[in-house]
Amino acid sequence: MTEAKKLFIKTYGCQMNVYDSERMVEAMGAEGYVLTDVVEDADMVLLNTCHIREKASEKLFSDLGRLRPLKNDKPGLIVTVAGCVAQAEGAEIQRRMPLVDIVVGPQAYHRLPQLVRAGGAQVDTEFPAEDKFDHLPKRTALRGPTAFLTVQEGCDKFCAFCVVPYTRGAEVSRPAERILREARDLVARGVREITLLGQNVNAYHGAGEGGAWTLSRLIRGLAKIDGLDRIRYTTSHPNDMDDDLIAAHGDLPQLMPYLHLPVQSGSDRILKAMNRKHTRDDYLRVIDRIRAARPDILLSSDFIVGFPGETDADFAATLDLIRSVEFGQAYSFRYSARPGTPAAEKPAVEAGVADSRLQQVQALLTAQQRSIQEAMVGREIGVLYEKIGRQTDQMVGKSDHLHAVHVNDPAGKVGQLVRARVLASSSNSLSAFRIS
Ligand code: SAH
Ligand code: SF4
Ligand code: F3S
Repeated sequence: MTEAKKLFIKTYGCQMNVYDSERMVEAMGAEGYVLTDVVEDADMVLLNTCHIREKASEKLFSDLGRLRPLKNDKPGLIVTVAGCVAQAEGAEIQRRMPLVDIVVGPQAYHRLPQLVRAGGAQVDTEFPAEDKFDHLPKRTALRGPTAFLTVQEGCDKFCAFCVVPYTRGAEVSRPAERILREARDLVARGVREITLLGQNVNAYHGAGEGGAWTLSRLIRGLAKIDGLDRIRYTTSHPNDMDDDLIAAHGDLPQLMPYLHLPVQSGSDRILKAMNRKHTRDDYLRVIDRIRAARPDILLSSDFIVGFPGETDADFAATLDLIRSVEFGQAYSFRYSARPGTPAAEKPAVEAGVADSRLQQVQALLTAQQRSIQEAMVGREIGVLYEKIGRQTDQMVGKSDHLHAVHVNDPAGKVGQLVRARVLASSSNSLSAFRIS
């Protein structure tokens, strides 16, 4: 018997990349590859990359540099670069880093087995006409009771700072029936929570019975699947939060009370320069409507500070928006100029100023996150156990509001959905005891 070939995979960037990595593992699994977490043992190394900020892209080149001695020792090692840097820089990667054998874009990775079989230097960054999901094996690389499910990809919004419309291409939605089938299949394999993914997930408009389905219609369909206890979705754009999606947050107990709704800035002038196509007030109104439908919803967002032209007054408007919304969770980034985007042409805010703004915004967001988390103490919550904890008899899971929760539960099992009462809040998790 020949020994199985080993695949080492490293994933950078967003949850879509995590999902894509799982699908690539499955595709290579059908070719006889098994996963390893020891890079030195690998016959194939796959780096699934992110292009969103300069730092993310640079990581690829430093990681490739570190692979050089391994490739020298093992000339048969197949080095593959996938994901958004592959899409953005294509053949340039091989020119700069000759140790790279294969470059494959996010819309072409179903052809990875063919590229590997063909051997030699291969680049595939097409946006093929066929649907990659039709050419991938069934889901097997599952990580416990939660799973991601891509329903929509790409983006037509062209925010002035963002590479996603270029790396992921135009907005495309998968047909509803395929998604329902994939979800049923996941539930049959023990999944109890599904997070629907899309770069603009709430712009979903997949073909379905009776015409194009909206995201809310899809979620209502998923909520009928027996055994699917929790549904989440990410990432949404404020302009695509339609009435029925908001209503679904009030109607469906399976739809978790958490919403990641990036706003980027609280200044209308900057929002306009960012080509966000919504104002500060539009955003605040959406938040009011969501809170009316689901008062306990936890809100999350993304912020960019130091966008070209951002003044102290613009930045103050961002802090002010944060104070009036109160976010339970948030990500904030210093603006990073990306090649090929319109904003990259504009003069940058001084680095020291941008850094100080980032610190201020992060301090405010962290304080809000802490106080919302502390307000959970004493409350009853649902917890889905995802893994066994480091301490004896400890289970680790997520609450409905997506807080990490530790529960002392000697009888606990991965995949159980329990009721618990929150005992304490620490910097990034809650501890709770099980009620039922
Ligand atoms: N589709 C999502 C976000 C995709 S990128 C949306 O519409 O919001 C995730 C986050 O990265 C963005 O929300 C933004 O805050 C940040 N980001 C994107 N481009 C950036 C850049 N050039 N510099 C800094 N942050 C950026
Ligand atoms: Fe990027 Fe804007 Fe599209 Fe989000 S909506 S992926 S930030 S272009
Ligand atoms: Fe990065 Fe591509 Fe996701 S640029 S954030 S991996 S869509």
